[in-house]
Amino acid sequence: MSASYEVRGSVAVVTMNNPPVNGLGYDTRRAIADGIDKANADAAVKAIVITGTGKAFSGGADIREFGSPKALAEPNLLSLIKQLEGSAKPIVAAMHSVVMGGGLELALGCHYRVVLPGTQVALPEVKLGLVPGAGGTQRLPRAIGVETALNMIVSGEPVKSELLAAIPGQKLFDKVVEGDALAGALAFAGEIAEQRPLPLVRNLKAEHPNADGYFAFARNTVKAMAKNFPAPAKCVDCVEAATKMKLDDGLRFERDSFIALMMTPESKALRHAFFGERAASKIPDVPEDTPKRDIKKVAMIGAGTMGGGIAMNFLNAGIPVVMLEMKQEALDKGVGVMRKNYEARVKKGKLKQDKFDKTMALLSTTLNYDDIKDADLVIEAVFEEMGVKEKVFKTLDEVMKPGAILASNTSTLDVDKIASFTKRPQDVVGMHFFSPANVMKLLEVVRGAKTAKDVLATVMALAKKIRKTAVVSGVTDGFIGNRMIEQYSRQAGYLLDEGCTPQQVDKAIEKFGFAMGPFRMGDLAGNDIGWAIRKRRAVEKPDLRYSKTADLLCEMGRYGQKTGAGWYDYKPGNRNAIPNADVLAMIETYRAEKGIKPRKISDDEIVHRLVYALVNEGAKILEEGIASKASDIDMVYLTGYGFPLHRGGPMCYADTQGLFNVVQAMKRFAANPLDDAVFWQPAPLLAKLAAEGKSFT
Ligand code: NAI
Repeated sequence: MSASYEVRGSVAVVTMNNPPVNGLGYDTRRAIADGIDKANADAAVKAIVITGTGKAFSGGADIREFGSPKALAEPNLLSLIKQLEGSAKPIVAAMHSVVMGGGLELALGCHYRVVLPGTQVALPEVKLGLVPGAGGTQRLPRAIGVETALNMIVSGEPVKSELLAAIPGQKLFDKVVEGDALAGALAFAGEIAEQRPLPLVRNLKAEHPNADGYFAFARNTVKAMAKNFPAPAKCVDCVEAATKMKLDDGLRFERDSFIALMMTPESKALRHAFFGERAASKIPDVPEDTPKRDIKKVAMIGAGTMGGGIAMNFLNAGIPVVMLEMKQEALDKGVGVMRKNYEARVKKGKLKQDKFDKTMALLSTTLNYDDIKDADLVIEAVFEEMGVKEKVFKTLDEVMKPGAILASNTSTLDVDKIASFTKRPQDVVGMHFFSPANVMKLLEVVRGAKTAKDVLATVMALAKKIRKTAVVSGVTDGFIGNRMIEQYSRQAGYLLDEGCTPQQVDKAIEKFGFAMGPFRMGDLAGNDIGWAIRKRRAVEKPDLRYSKTADLLCEMGRYGQKTGAGWYDYKPGNRNAIPNADVLAMIETYRAEKGIKPRKISDDEIVHRLVYALVNEGAKILEEGIASKASDIDMVYLTGYGFPLHRGGPMCYADTQGLFNVVQAMKRFAANPLDDAVFWQPAPLLAKLAAEGKSFT
């Protein structure tokens, strides 16, 4: 049973008990319904209290049931709320801790609500691309007023109960009680047990003195803010319906909106990302109860661009960091950058001075390995050269205490090779942060051939602590993200060869939703990085085709923003990309030399060639077991590469398009003599799934 029933004096208590947050799964709904029936049939019972055990009143729908028939099995939440409203005996919700989504909708169906201060109250459905589906949009405006309700529904953000209780005339809470919600509710139930008629939120009116003007304003604001997502505008429609329709008509309107949104690719993408984030932390062969190592102190080798940013993550989480460099100047410079970064946040009011002082006090620096030997985790972020890494890891192997985790932030080097420099390869792991490391959400955790399971489990748990989305990647050149981006960049180059300008390519993919097109991204990251990789490839894989335009650009000294010139020009202190005539002339000359007559390429073709380049490489990565699931690849792209959230990541997008169609498009691209038939050979896994009518996810 996912809810218990007991009678205390003349009050029946129904307690939801479905850890971790009393999600309203089938068993819980059933048990509540049975409890209400039982209480109504018992002559000794005068009133009923509903509450939840543990950390929540109720967090809403049980996400484990999402998409399964159980989620809708009767009594569904709508039916259950109807039953509550029809109860002959008064029902009091005893709300505490967390009251969200369906949990709040359930409470709004009770006759009375008692709440503890500090309770987090929210209707977060919009975050999954939905509107609340069990009356939230109809009852909350009636209880708390139109504007507050709409703000909560459109943002999905939690609001503390004491703030809501302070709103004049609010009917959401009948009483704010201190200490124990159940005790408060029992006392309250005693007071109201005999009162009739029973009050219901459904009988209240949702009114606004200037409804038409207000909703027109709300609609405009929401449309501008949520341009790629349909749900927020639907929230406005539903709340407006609450002011114009009878409750039951409004409920139908809300239900229709909910079902329509459920089918949209945007909601599917958001739900995919929501579950993808949770799934990423689970590694198929590493059980969840794997013991973890204690990480109380972190050492950072290298205080450069990455070292400083990485250190900040741990400091922010309250974990002490000691930074090691070769020279004092490097330490001073590194710490100076970190300090400036924090100071800017203090200036903007985003960080309190005393918190800043406390954070900096957790940081120490050294030139001596003796000072780091007791660290539980050491992360190396020195120059990207195997020789330098070898020296560092040999030293770490000598000095670090047994059981310390030895991590490398390398972006291109072989983690197994790095591990082989030590006599404890089981303790070595890749922790590939993205720049700026204190901002970017993504962390690729690179699992070496010998990395121990408890090391992985520890790093994944630590990632959560420092608020990163961690995705496990096997050892491969570029790991998941950069291995895929290389193919995307190759396609971008071919597009220039065939007739596009850099801005045309960037605009098309930015319109698709990417934060930045490939050429603006190249300018930001530094075009010399790709240049170095291509030089290496020319030795390793001499047959691999590339457009030469990117090399020619580097030969012009145009490395990107850092040199003020790349694919575009940049004015000092300004990141606006300004097209440059010399670059366009360089591309045209290159085309002419190759005898290519430029053609006009549609935005649609640009987008699909770029995205399917990612998809095909992603399929290979999946097939090789470098990523353990397609959603991991999507999480890498959503959190590290600016892939549009409303498309759900490259693999999710391919599924939405249909893999049959993806393969058909690849065949068309392959037939273009200026494109690359080898490139467009579908990955065997992709070809197989497409042939079987299946999808990645
Ligand atoms: P950086 O050049 O800014 O910093 C490297 C720092 O390491 C310098 O301060 C240098 O003095 C120090 N250093 C060099 N050898 C050392 C040694 N033997 N002992 C102690 N300190 C030493 O380089 P950056 O950009 O921070 O990169 C560091 C590592 O992070 C590289 O492996 C790089 O591939 C990787 N990485 C870089 C990213 C980026 O966007 N810059 C992104 C992800 C990974």
